[in-house]
Amino acid sequence: MLKSPLYGVLGTALVATAVLVPGAGAGAGTAVVSPDISVTNAKAHLDQFQSIATANGGNRATGRPGYLASANWVKSKLDAAGYTTALQSFSTSSGTSYNVIAEWPYGDANNVVMAGAHLDSVTSGPGINDNGTGSAGVLETALAYAASGQVAKNRLRFGFWGAEELGLLGSKYYVNSLPSAERAKVKLYLNFDMIGSPNPGYFVYNDNPAGNGARDDLTSYFTSKSIQTEYVDVQGRSDHAAFRSLGIATAGTFSGAEGTKTSAQATKWGGTAGAAYDPCYHRSCDNINNLNLTSLDRQIDAIGHMIWNYAQKDYGSTEPPTGTNLLKNPGFESGAVNWTGTSGVITNSSSKPARTGSYKAWLQGNGITGTENLGQSVAVPAAATAAALSLWIRIDSAETTTSTVYDTVKVQVIDGTTTTTLATYSNLNKSTSYVQKTLNLLPYKGKTVTIRFLGQEDSSLQTSFVIDDVAATTS
Ligand code: PHE
Ligand code: ZN
Ligand code: ZN
Ligand code: CA
Repeated sequence: MLKSPLYGVLGTALVATAVLVPGAGAGAGTAVVSPDISVTNAKAHLDQFQSIATANGGNRATGRPGYLASANWVKSKLDAAGYTTALQSFSTSSGTSYNVIAEWPYGDANNVVMAGAHLDSVTSGPGINDNGTGSAGVLETALAYAASGQVAKNRLRFGFWGAEELGLLGSKYYVNSLPSAERAKVKLYLNFDMIGSPNPGYFVYNDNPAGNGARDDLTSYFTSKSIQTEYVDVQGRSDHAAFRSLGIATAGTFSGAEGTKTSAQATKWGGTAGAAYDPCYHRSCDNINNLNLTSLDRQIDAIGHMIWNYAQKDYGSTEPPTGTNLLKNPGFESGAVNWTGTSGVITNSSSKPARTGSYKAWLQGNGITGTENLGQSVAVPAAATAAALSLWIRIDSAETTTSTVYDTVKVQVIDGTTTTTLATYSNLNKSTSYVQKTLNLLPYKGKTVTIRFLGQEDSSLQTSFVIDDVAATTS
């Protein structure tokens, strides 16, 4: 299908200038500001888990319909937020179970930071504290990250494990199915299993020396909020054990299960001495009333703190640098706003899917001689030590040659009267899935330049260059 050919020139009057928001993003050596993860939203997720259990025989257990309903619902929320998700199935003695894996498709894929929670309940109840709370907290943190505009240096991945209650089966299946090269990329796994216990404790664990640093970061975070913690050896009783067995750094938090709160703990944490942290542990009363929302609120903010900070941790990644996206309307969802160039290029046409949302920039695809372009001005801060332009592109073409360039899109930087082409993609780079490209903008630090995409086609056989989710970031 061909687009209507509309030609134009790059506008010069209506250039938008991006400014660096002071304090936003993480410059080199700058602490990341911790987010406030919404306990209202997390509670709404728990209400959803309760509704799913109620509609499915009172539980969300492996092999029961409430489990798959939970998994599908979590996956749909993550899909809508722009995550790349997978439903990974595996078999158990109680029937098929599923892991939901969600990856934020930015950041260095060689340095993966993971957080996870088991999504299954026991058969006796809806599993709201165990482990609706961990699931809701990890889910809400993932959704908040997607909405934040943070540009991750590292790759963030979230796991919602099936069949934990049958012996940590989902997390074990996941790590066993990871090729060894992929295992080596996972730098940290954070686990959250029971974080809203009605008579809460504030426990941190790591269970392996590699996780000491992350555990200490959790402890320091709680200390900064005047919350005392206790270190606990949970002896591999949750999904971090599978990661630990591969030598991956692990850490987590826990508000307590069947154990009894001591009077010393009640003094520092409040609640009831001599009673279980969770009297409804693995019982039918682990329902929507079996919660301490103060505990949940504090714990999910700790998850957010860890994710925001570890997303930017220096594991030796070089791209993309950290920081706020300097481009406006970078995913084109506001249509032509902030962009100048050929009219009609930014489109929500359903014949070429957007990478995220519904709008994207579709250059060329006309099958006749012509050019199209799109541009936006950006001020690259003088203090930048790294600066990158990243974009996602899919290219489909009616050209069949494997050797001759006929149609191209150039990624250019216009600096005053000088135009530099950073990269050229052509009909030889056909790919109907989106591929991320990262280009260096550091030579333009201290300058206001225009980023331009310039498409060019010859007289026949269309090539469509579809670009989405563009980011200019610095650190
Ligand atoms: N994994 C346990 C369960 O789901 C709970 C637990 C979590 C116990 C963390 C110890 C530490 O039943
Ligand atoms: Zn349990
Ligand atoms: Zn649990
Ligand atoms: Ca888009």
